[in-house]
Amino acid sequence: MTHQDFLNALVCPLTQTPLELAEDGKSLISQDGVVYSVGDTGIVNMLYPKELLPDDAREQYLYDQAFLRYDRGVSWVFETLNHSDEAATRQFMIDLMGLKPGMTALEVGAGTGKDSALILEKIKPGGTAVLSDLSPNMLKLAQDKLSTEEVNVHYFLGNGSYLPFADDTFDAVFHFGGINTFSERKKAFAELTRVVRPGGKVVVGDESVAPWLRSRPSYQMLLKANPLFRAEVPLEDLPANLENFKLHWIFGNAFYVMEYTVTATAPEIDVDLPIPGKDFVDNWRLRAEKAEG
Ligand SMILES: C[S@@+](CC[C@H](N)C(=O)[O-])C[C@H]1O[C@@H](n2cnc3c(N)ncnc32)[C@H](O)[C@@H]1O
Repeated sequence: MTHQDFLNALVCPLTQTPLELAEDGKSLISQDGVVYSVGDTGIVNMLYPKELLPDDAREQYLYDQAFLRYDRGVSWVFETLNHSDEAATRQFMIDLMGLKPGMTALEVGAGTGKDSALILEKIKPGGTAVLSDLSPNMLKLAQDKLSTEEVNVHYFLGNGSYLPFADDTFDAVFHFGGINTFSERKKAFAELTRVVRPGGKVVVGDESVAPWLRSRPSYQMLLKANPLFRAEVPLEDLPANLENFKLHWIFGNAFYVMEYTVTATAPEIDVDLPIPGKDFVDNWRLRAEKAEG
C-alpha cells in the first residue's frame, strides 16, 4: 500500500464517509467540513474529536511529556513483575494476532513502537502496518526507530475510539497498555472490532492484577502505588460479534491480554428448536421456578 493508497483509505473517524484530499495534498476534508492535516512528516493527524474528552486529553499530555522516560523506563515495570521476560511476553501477544506475510495490521496506541517492530516482522515481505497513537511525541519516536524494509508502514495520530477506516479493512488489530484510561472504552472495542474483517483477530491488553493475587502483600503494595493495576478486565465492554475468546494473564499476572476472532454477526439463541422430550421441559421449568424463588 503506497502512501497515496493509505490516504485514499482514510475516512471520517465519526461517520466513515469519504474524505476529500485538498488540491495542495496537505489536508483531508470531511463532508461536514472538518479538516485533517496530512502535513509532510508522514504522520497524518486524524485525531477526533478535535477537543479530546478530559481523560484522553490528560493521557495525551502525560505521554507527550514522558515519551523519552517511558521508552527508557517501562522495561523496569515488567522486571518488577515476577522478573518477567518482556521480549518473550511481547512476542507471545503479537503471535496471538495470527499474522502472516503480506497481511494488513493496525496497532492502536503503538506508543514508541515496542510491539510494532514485532508486527512488522510478522507481515514481511509485502505486508502493511498502520501504526497510530494519541501522543505525537510517542508516535514520532516509533517512526524514528522503525525500519520500513520489505514492509509498508503508515502512521496517524488518532483516538482509538474513532478509527478513520471503513469496516473490515484489517486482518488483525492490536492494542496494549492504554485502554484502561480511554474515555470511551466500549466505543473503542466496537471500533477495534469494526475495522477487522470477519475471521480476523483482535488482541488487547492492559493492567489488571489477577483476582487471586489481590490480597497478597506485594501485590497490595503495587495496587496502592499505581491504581491502574486495580482496573477490572473490561469484559462488559466487548461487542457481541466475536468468537473463540481467550483471556490470558501476563507479566506476573498483573496484566491481562484478551484475544478473539471477529464474526460477521452476533451469536443467537435458537428459542424455536423443538424441545427433546417432556422430562427435558420439566427439568428446565423446575430450574426456572427454583431460581425465581
Ligand atoms: C502505556 S503506553 C503503551 C505503548 C505501547 N503499546 C507499548 O506497549 O509500549 C499507552 C499508549 O496508549 C496511548 N493512548 C492513550 N489513550 C489513547 C487513545 N484514546 N487512543 C489511542 N491511543 C491512546 C498513549 O498515548 C500511549 O502511547
